Parts: sequence; structure tokens; C-alpha cells
Amino acid sequence: MIREWKRCFELSTKDTTYVFRARPNGLLEHVYYGEKIDLFGKAGSPEGLTEGASEKLADGQAEEFAVKLAESQVEALTEKQAFAPGNSLCYDQEDKSFSPEYCALECSAAGKGDVREPMAEVIGKDGVRTLDFVYESHEISTGKQPFQTLPGSYDEAGKVQQLKVILRDSWQQLKLELYYWVYEDCNVISRSAVLVNEGGSPVTVERLLSFLTDLDEDDWIARSFTGAWTREMHENRIPLTGGKYVLSSSTGTSSNRANPFFFLEKRDTSEDHGTCVGFHLIYSGNHYEAMEVNPYGKTRVVSGINPQGFSWHLEPGERLETPEAVMTFSAAGRNGMSKNLHAFVREHIVRGKWKKKERPVLLNSWEAFYFDFNESKLLKLAETAKSVGIELFVLDDGWFGKRDDDTSSLGDWTENKKKLPGGLKGLAKKINAMGLDFGIWVEPEMVNVDSDLYRAHPEWVLEVPGKAHSEGRNQRILDLSNPDVQQYMIDEMSRVFSSANISYVKWDMNRVFSDAYSQALPKERQGEVVHRYQMGLYRCMKELTEAFPEILFEGCASGGNRFDLGILCYFPQIWASDDTDALCRAEIQNGYGYGYPQSVIGAHVSSCPNHQTLRVTPLETRFAVACFGVLGYELNLIDAKKEDLEAIKVQIALYKEWRSVLQFGRWIRGKSFTGSQDGHGVSNLWDGAGNLQEWYCVSEDRTREFIALLQRFAIPNSHSIRLRARALDPERIYQFTNRELKYNVKGFGDLVNTVAPIHVKQDSLLHNMVAKFVKLDGETENYLLRGDVLMRGGVNLKQPFGGTGYNDQVRYYPDFGARLYFVEAQENKEA
Ligand code: GLA
Repeated sequence: MIREWKRCFELSTKDTTYVFRARPNGLLEHVYYGEKIDLFGKAGSPEGLTEGASEKLADGQAEEFAVKLAESQVEALTEKQAFAPGNSLCYDQEDKSFSPEYCALECSAAGKGDVREPMAEVIGKDGVRTLDFVYESHEISTGKQPFQTLPGSYDEAGKVQQLKVILRDSWQQLKLELYYWVYEDCNVISRSAVLVNEGGSPVTVERLLSFLTDLDEDDWIARSFTGAWTREMHENRIPLTGGKYVLSSSTGTSSNRANPFFFLEKRDTSEDHGTCVGFHLIYSGNHYEAMEVNPYGKTRVVSGINPQGFSWHLEPGERLETPEAVMTFSAAGRNGMSKNLHAFVREHIVRGKWKKKERPVLLNSWEAFYFDFNESKLLKLAETAKSVGIELFVLDDGWFGKRDDDTSSLGDWTENKKKLPGGLKGLAKKINAMGLDFGIWVEPEMVNVDSDLYRAHPEWVLEVPGKAHSEGRNQRILDLSNPDVQQYMIDEMSRVFSSANISYVKWDMNRVFSDAYSQALPKERQGEVVHRYQMGLYRCMKELTEAFPEILFEGCASGGNRFDLGILCYFPQIWASDDTDALCRAEIQNGYGYGYPQSVIGAHVSSCPNHQTLRVTPLETRFAVACFGVLGYELNLIDAKKEDLEAIKVQIALYKEWRSVLQFGRWIRGKSFTGSQDGHGVSNLWDGAGNLQEWYCVSEDRTREFIALLQRFAIPNSHSIRLRARALDPERIYQFTNRELKYNVKGFGDLVNTVAPIHVKQDSLLHNMVAKFVKLDGETENYLLRGDVLMRGGVNLKQPFGGTGYNDQVRYYPDFGARLYFVEAQENKEA
């Protein structure tokens, strides 16, 4: 709900409230963000109130008291200044006590005494850079219009409330519109800003961020996610002190270097307790986030398009939109924040047919064959895939032009007839005949210099003519700031997508921007190229996803180099990382999980030794990690051992049984490999923080829960573990079981001789024979429990292998081990 009272704005969600006001001098002052409060009580203006909230006051006396209370509460919360402090500046002659630098603000531009991060920088009339945006008016309404140039959140139910505050710098003749959208159901407030040039001459916008807010207090800890190729979403924990902490991307994509999602927490915040404020940006290009602690106890947070390399020529009458930024507050720790954001992404970002539809289990050909395949190899792989329960066969890179490596053919989207004599159509037919859906890989934004497209249209590429180009994977970027190139891409991809029965598309993007010069734009607009590229890309994605609503699109950019809410407005899932090593993935996916739900995270089981790390992890662990995303397989199943194929078949069957919970249930984190619970290091001798990772996934109706317990290193002579389920109905009766497994004796090495009647030499023929016929029973767990007992008391799990003996009462738990547990409500049984 949004209420306004005496130019003070109260934005409330289910559990939170956000307050700011226009000061008498017209500057916007940030007042409060935190747990829900009722600031105006019955005095709040009915303007914009939702149904039922507009209570009429009974009599004059009550009204007088309500007004007194509201006035007193607003006054209590706002900042007091009797004298401008120290050498800070006072804003104007009328109020010499007021210094913008001292105050918590809601919007601030450079040049009027606030020396912190500005929201806007403009070279305006006569080259003047000073900006002074003051309150002019506001409007409260219901519903949200789509952006003209960018993707944004939406509300199918039409219940989202909007507050538009108009600020004006009348000297510069600039209007700044601040938008707030309140998603009550998931405790999210999103924001954006639009700048309009109302003057008679053009201005140059050097910075226009999406939002600015000054949080109370200066003791926040920034939690950010940085990385590189195959090392996405590495968790950082930065206690903020004086100065700035900046996250940004200048790769041209939202990037694996610094994801635009981040959050702030307090020292005592944990996964389940304490204060947490999360931020997202609905944008896939260069972004910028700064957290700045000032000397007066405030923490400024800003986010938006990266001003580095950006400038925008704004003609009279033109407007510039900024990407939508998302905020959520949680008093229930990081899991509380994630709950809000997961619900927001699922309900208000992802759209289309696949929004709530279960995603198929796919097999991707990349790590199976790379570029080296032909139709008969693909068909054999597909046949094996079908036999283990795969539903969708995806042909990755290498099917077009003369592409046998990464040096040529991007841009030439016609089938390589040597590899695929019947083309995509012929292959799709054969794959479909096996009962599998068919999907392809494309990289539509790119072109190789060695391609017919580049030879025909060198002017369609981002490069500086005549100047040596910085290379990346031998490819260049198409100039999507040029509408002709956008149209070409839409037409070309439409042709490809309708050339065969294609039900899935992996849309890749594999290089960092360099030499970003557009031959289609004039000199004064070259600072717009990278942002115009994004707008062009969004246009292409919008038109293609609308033209092909049945296709499941998966975003990708060298793995997770463009994992953000902008992409998710069009594609319901994104390939999270080219790193398929289970241990790395456990950390990478845990990182994504803070801000993104599992239904948007592509995750595959691959072969071992792993192609990125050469590490060998158990197949069970690879599955346990990948099933907490959208599960796929990416390995040469033709070469897989029979016992692995059998295991994969059982995994896929299990996944299908639990798919609705695993893809759309509530994902909760327990302990994690990054040890974020208590910050202790990892030890090979102690099962402390960092050695175990716990993931829980609970169905919406709280009747089913899927739990994975992952381990980094085996600890000898270890202690028991008490596993507590999450978010169940305390009153219900549940069955707690584990995944029953059988183990290969070879996993016990020459310990086999402690029980074998004759000596068995390791890896001998005899050892292999024994291994073939003798399987060791794993432990079983089976309990009937009330929800409260299961959540609060927990299950004391069977003893892990500790070096003193093994039987079916012992948990086989080697390095990189994983165990899966299931909780299911007993039909209609209440305690
Ligand atoms: C990128 C992707 C991979 C694969 C290759 C193909 O690296 O992230 O998954 O599709 O391209 O060239």
C-alpha cells in the first residue's frame, strides 16, 4: 500500500515499510526502511489507498488525535539539524541549518552541497553541471506500464501500486520522474527514474542511475558476488567503513566479474536471523553499484547503468529511461531475503508459457562431443539419452557454416550438410521420432570475421574501421544499436527457429565488448552505443520470444557472464556456469541462490574427471547439486559405464517425481561451503563450518521436502549430524527417509581384505569380479515424525564412516560425498 500525508510517503508491503518525504525546501529526504510500521495511522490521506484501507474517522476529536500522532511520529523519525555541521555546505540562504551532506536523501544530484555519490550528472545549459531537483508533485495509482525501451517487472494480477514523484530543476529545464512500485506479496519495492529534457537545447547526460537511497547507520556488511569464467558468484563479505565499495561491470554484459545482485546485512545476521537488504537491477549491460559510508552515519546505496564510458545526448523533448532496480528488506536473515526475491523473480519477472511449467530434463551435446560430431553420433547419443529418461536433446555449437572450431562461421546460420545431411529439420524429425524434443544452440549477437555475413556487412559490427581490433574467441559483436541489424537478427533467427521442430534454444553470447564504435551513430552519440546495444538486444529478444512462445529459451554467456533479471524477463532460465564440477557448482549455485530461484538456474551432470577441474566426484553428488537447478546432463552417455547409465536412469526418475518441488518449491540454505554461517575456516580434522552444505527444498503446500547434504572432505572419527527439516507444518505427521544406495566395494580399497576369505589384490581381475557382483548396502533412515519434532529436534543421522568399520548402519561418506533425504506428509494425518 502507498500512502501520502503532508508530502510524506509511506510504502508498505506485507512485512516492510519504506518512508521518505519532501522537505520544505523540496529535497527528498529518506526517512525509514525496515520492518512494517504504521506511521500515519488513521491520518493518512485516502488518496491511492487500496480497498478497505480508507477508514473514515468517527468524530473530530479522534481525527485531531490521529493527526497529532502522525505528526509526532513523522517528526520523531526525521533528521534534526540546528546548525550545518563543520565545513559542510548549507543548501540555500533560506535554511542555513540544513546541509544535504548530513541528511539521508532519496535523490541527490551533484553541485548543491551533497558530496556523496550523485544519482545524476548532466552537462546542461551553458555547460553548467549543477543540478537541483526539487519536489513538484506526485501521483499514486494502481498498475504498471511497460517501459518503452527496457524490460521490467510486471504484475499479472494488476495489483502492483505505483508512486510517481516529479522533481524539477527549473533553471536547467529538466524534469526527473522517480517511480516506485510496491509488490506487497513478496516485500519488494522496485524503482526507476526517467529524465526529460524540457529545455530548448540538447543536454549531455553523463550519469543517470536508477535509484539512490541513504540507509540509516554505518555498520553494514556488503555481500557481493564476483568472479570470472567458470568461477561465477564467488561470495564476498565486505564490512563497510568510511569510503566507498563499488561493484561494476564494463564488459558490455552484466558480467561474471560482478553480478548486479548484492545485499547488505548486519554483523549478527545469519541465514535465518537478522537484518538484510537485497538489491537487484533489471539490466544486462554495464552496471554500477556503490555503497558509500559518509562521516555522518549514513550508508548511501546507488545502482544503475555504469557511468563509465556512458554519455547520452538528450535532445529537447526527449526522455531517457533507466533500468528498474529492485529492493527487499528482511528481518528474517538471508533466507528471508531470498524468499522475497525468489517469489518476486518467479512471479513478477519470468513470464510466458514456461513461467510455471516444469522444465524438461535435457541432454546437451557440448561436453559430449564439442565440435566433433555427425548425425549418426548425435542419433546414437540421443538414443542412449532416451533410454535413461532424458526428454529433450540439445545440439550445441558446431552445426552451422563450416564451424569445426571457434574460428569461423558465426553469422552463417545454415546447417553444415557434411555433419547434418538432412539439416536441422531432418535431425529434429529423427530425434522427435525417438520420443525426444529437440533444441539448438545459437549465438545470434556474434559474427566471425571468417563468415559470409562479415564479408557482406563489415559495417554491421562494433569496431573502429581501420584500427586494430582487440580479439575475443575470434569473434566480433554485431552492432545492435543499429535498427537494421536488429531487424536482420530477428528475421534470421525467425527463419532458423521455424526451419525445424525446435522446442528449445540456448542463446549464447561469448565475448567481452571492445572497440565499441558504431558506424551507424554520429560522433556525439558514441557514448550511447553500449546502452543502445542493450535496448536493441531487448527488442530482438522480445520479438523473438513473442513470435515463438512455445520455445523454451535458455540464456548463456560463456556460462554465467550475463545472469541477471533483464535476461530473465525474456528467457525463463540461464546456464549458470561452464563449470560443471560438482564441488564448484555447489558454491556457484549457492551464490546464485541468495538472489535467484532454482527454476532459473541451468545445472548439468557431466563426466569425470571433470573437464574444468579434472576432479573426480561421485555421480550421486553431481546429481545432488544439479537437481537443485533445472536438471540436465552433459556428457557422452554412449561411453558411460553400464552401472552409471543405470544410476542416471534412477536419478532422472527420482527427479521427475520431485521435479515440481525442486523447480518451484521454496529453496532454503543451511550450512554452506563458504561457511557464511559463522565464518570459521575449513579443517580436514573437524566437521565445522565450510565442510558441509545443506540445501532444502519445500513444496508450497509444505507436504514435501527434498534435502541434500553435501560434504567437502571426509573427516575421520567424525561426530553425528542432526538434520533438521525446514518450513514444514509443525502439526503434521511426516515420513523421513533417505535415498537408499548400494556401493561398489572398490570404494573401500584394500579394506576388502578385512572381510574377504581370500586375498584380493587392488584392481586385479578378482577385485573387478568381486566389484561386479558384490554391492554393499548403504544405510537407511526411516522415521515417522511430527513436523515440529522434525524441524526443531531433527533426525540424528546414522554414523558416518570413521575408519573403524562399515556395515549398513554406517553412512558411506567419502570426499565430495552427498546424501539425499526426503520428507513426505502422511495423507491426512495430523497429530
Ligand atoms: C560457451 C557456452 C558453452 C558452450 C560453448 C559453445 O562457452 O557457455 O556452454 O555452449 O560456448 O561454443
